[in-house]
Amino acid sequence: MVRQPGYIRPTLKSTNTSPLVGIALLGAGVVGRGVLKILSEQADLLKRRTGLTPVVHHVVCRNLDRHGDLAGDNNVTTDAAAAIADPRVSIVVEVMGGTGVAGEYTAAALKAGKHVVTANKALLAAHGAELFGLAKENDVSIGFEASCGGGIPIIDALTRGLVGNRIDSLIGIINGTCNYILTQMSEQGWTYEAALAEAQKIGFAEADPVMDVSGRDTAQKLAILATLAFNEQVNEADIALAGIDSLKADDIRNASQLGYTIKLLAIAERTLGGLNLRVSPTLVHNGDLLADVNGGFNAISVYGHAIGHQFFYGRGAGQSPTASAVVADILGVAMGTIPHAFERLNVYPGTLPAARMLSHDDAVSRFYLRFSVKDKPGVLAGITETLGEHGVSLQGVRQDENDTNAIVLTTHTTTRRAVTAAVAEIDKQPHVVAATVVWPIFDRPEEFAE
Ligand code: HSE
Repeated sequence: MVRQPGYIRPTLKSTNTSPLVGIALLGAGVVGRGVLKILSEQADLLKRRTGLTPVVHHVVCRNLDRHGDLAGDNNVTTDAAAAIADPRVSIVVEVMGGTGVAGEYTAAALKAGKHVVTANKALLAAHGAELFGLAKENDVSIGFEASCGGGIPIIDALTRGLVGNRIDSLIGIINGTCNYILTQMSEQGWTYEAALAEAQKIGFAEADPVMDVSGRDTAQKLAILATLAFNEQVNEADIALAGIDSLKADDIRNASQLGYTIKLLAIAERTLGGLNLRVSPTLVHNGDLLADVNGGFNAISVYGHAIGHQFFYGRGAGQSPTASAVVADILGVAMGTIPHAFERLNVYPGTLPAARMLSHDDAVSRFYLRFSVKDKPGVLAGITETLGEHGVSLQGVRQDENDTNAIVLTTHTTTRRAVTAAVAEIDKQPHVVAATVVWPIFDRPEEFAE
């Protein structure tokens, strides 16, 4: 095995030579093409900023016929093994997606002593421990800025800019596809299907959009962000999960009439009982910054003990924003800032304690409830009485004269346990005709900076 230099140190002395950074690009899809575009169009800028010249020696794709247009300027190949083994290559950029072949190539690259830059949160969620272990063993780094929040440098912020902060909570809109769908449904009245089809066309959606709409993509990103924010090992399976595929247009409309917007929120917060981690369609009050995050945009609210509230906002999906983060990692690895941060991330297997989790039933919030009922005397009284018996206090009640088969309630702050138990009883009442819809309402944490 030829050991690659840990990183390339640009010399401080004036020089006309710009060290080359040899790259093998695995994947010539939306993101891969975006990376090629930035590297070629911004070559002078990158050289002036970093003193380095990134050179893509190989573009690896699965099907040469589909990428003939790239062949003029690039060495396009299907031979990943040869590309990884090329001694000129010090950084392997994995933008293929998926956990199969992408995982094999990533492991092979690390074993060959190559640094890896990846946008693949699914791979890190499934095989992160093994891959970070291989990176450590082979003294190379993994850059994964593009895995969360598209072009927003949130990994850099959590691991460097905010390193002096105890993070108390992190709340994100971190799936562009879901946010685009929700925005088009609530603002343009599009159907769910039409909005999803357009998100796929624009290039936001995963190869399998079920990963987006089920909330899994969001949970995988939250697992990475929460691990870095709280320095406890958070896994996807630790996160309570509901996707937008179970959300009904009626609830988007009701929320809007109540002054809220429904967003797919990823929430990670430190509580006395442990970490509260959840991904769910959630009502966000229209006064909150998060309610104004529309289309393919992402945003992450971070609350740190020293900084108070900090809000990161930007394009969370799509070709150029994701490629922007990949290029940042390529140069970060080459300049040595990624290995530097990486050593301190403590992401190697066994180095972090398992997260101490708050039981999902103990999670506390306000809730939105929609009951489907027959219009009979005493129905509302039956519902409110049962809620009262479980200690659930009501904040608002709404029934439309034109739709007397739906009752919408909002609660004061309570536990999910109390709401679940009350709703289970209510759903057995004779005039309740369908399962009650329950979504949490987000209330901004109190902001303080010491
Ligand atoms: N499918 C993802 C999204 C792409 O829609 O946000 C970026 O991870």
